[in-house]
Amino acid sequence: MCVKWTCCFLFAVLLTVSTCEVLKVREGESVTLNIRGHVDKNNLIAFEWSVNNMTIADYRNRTIYIDPHFKGRVEFDEDTFSLGLGNLMKNDSGHYTAVRNVYGKPKEMVADYSISVLEHAAAPTLTVVSNWSSSDSCNVTLNCTGLNVSLISSCDGTFCSQEGRNRFLSISLNHATVSCNHSNPVSWNQTLIELEPLCQLSRKRQTRRWTIEVIFGIVACVGLISAVMIVAAIYWWHKSRDHNIQVGHTCSAL
Ligand SMILES: *[C@@H]1O[C@H](CO)[C@@H](O)[C@H](O)[C@H]1NC(C)=O
Ligand SMILES: *[C@@H]1O[C@H](CO)[C@@H](O)[C@H](O)[C@H]1NC(C)=O
Ligand SMILES: *[C@@H]1O[C@H](CO)[C@@H](O)[C@H](O)[C@H]1NC(C)=O
Ligand SMILES: *[C@@H]1O[C@H](CO)[C@@H](O)[C@H](O)[C@H]1NC(C)=O
Ligand SMILES: *[C@@H]1O[C@H](CO)[C@@H](O)[C@H](O)[C@H]1NC(C)=O
Ligand SMILES: *[C@@H]1O[C@H](CO)[C@@H](O)[C@H](O)[C@H]1NC(C)=O
Ligand SMILES: *[C@@H]1O[C@H](CO)[C@@H](O)[C@H](O)[C@H]1NC(C)=O
Ligand SMILES: *[C@@H]1O[C@H](CO)[C@@H](O)[C@H](O)[C@H]1NC(C)=O
Ligand SMILES: *[C@@H]1O[C@H](CO)[C@@H](O)[C@H](O)[C@H]1NC(C)=O
Repeated sequence: MCVKWTCCFLFAVLLTVSTCEVLKVREGESVTLNIRGHVDKNNLIAFEWSVNNMTIADYRNRTIYIDPHFKGRVEFDEDTFSLGLGNLMKNDSGHYTAVRNVYGKPKEMVADYSISVLEHAAAPTLTVVSNWSSSDSCNVTLNCTGLNVSLISSCDGTFCSQEGRNRFLSISLNHATVSCNHSNPVSWNQTLIELEPLCQLSRKRQTRRWTIEVIFGIVACVGLISAVMIVAAIYWWHKSRDHNIQVGHTCSAL
């Protein structure tokens, strides 16, 4: 008995407490707004969906009326009483409610949504503020800007530090590529920049490696020519009677 009443009480509370659900959606997306509970069509006087108190859909006498403003953009489901909203635009943001009016009962709000339509996060701009390098270290300062916010970051070859915190922007270094990520609650976009051309250090390393390769190549070539000449000389020495000198390989393969 006690349990039964408790359940009934809780059920009643759940039904009457109006909970506003917050939805953040990306421009162009669609959502379906559902109602709490179900609707008994036989006792129904009217059922109405509205946004900021402006009627979207009005269902009564088993007929649906859609406001001309929303024709073709909304879909009312006559079985579940849910409302489908398609191709949302920024100006569709607002407070969406559904009110059920049944014989013998006060009007009751059965859906309550707050919808924010947000645009795609734009790709941020990433610019070089300064760059310097010494023989063994390098420091590149970058400015990442997305809409009205910006972030300054200093990178050495292995790490990027962020000056200040930002909810919408973040900088990271992956191999030799710096990326700045601009995000909002519904999407993100990023811009990349290569660190190597800005950092003399890595170019010096590259130059040194290139030089070593060239020197190694020349040494190998000279060595090979010498070896071939020595072999040829020995061959000639031993077979001098034949007057036949064979020249073998050149270093054309290098
Ligand atoms: C909608 O109407 C209710 C009462 O009818 C009012 O309290 C509320 O402020 C209105 N909301 C808007 C967005 O006009
Ligand atoms: C409801 O619809 C029926 C038939 O579809 C019609 O006879 C009746 O007059 C309508 N009532 C109202 C209030 O429009
Ligand atoms: C909302 O914006 C769209 C374009 O983004 C426009 O076509 C439409 O008329 C606007 N609606 C209102 C009510 O301002
Ligand atoms: C800074 O970056 C430029 C390329 O934008 C590069 O030519 C220059 O050598 C760099 N300076 C230093 C000190 O790394
Ligand atoms: C890099 O340069 C920036 C600006 O010139 C400076 O604030 C930062 O301390 C430097 N970082 C290092 C590690 O030297
Ligand atoms: C970063 O760039 C933005 C946009 O160009 C500018 O408004 C901001 O002042 C810059 N910040 C710094 C520290 O240079
Ligand atoms: C940037 O603009 C958004 C809305 O366009 C605003 O909510 C935010 O406070 C602004 N941020 C700054 C730092 O001005
Ligand atoms: C960019 O930031 C958003 C939000 O923090 C995150 O979901 C996304 O994975 C990030 N993208 C990259 C490439 O790091
Ligand atoms: C980033 O923005 C560009 C245009 O600004 C767009 O083409 C691209 O699809 C966006 N990327 C993501 C992951 O949203």
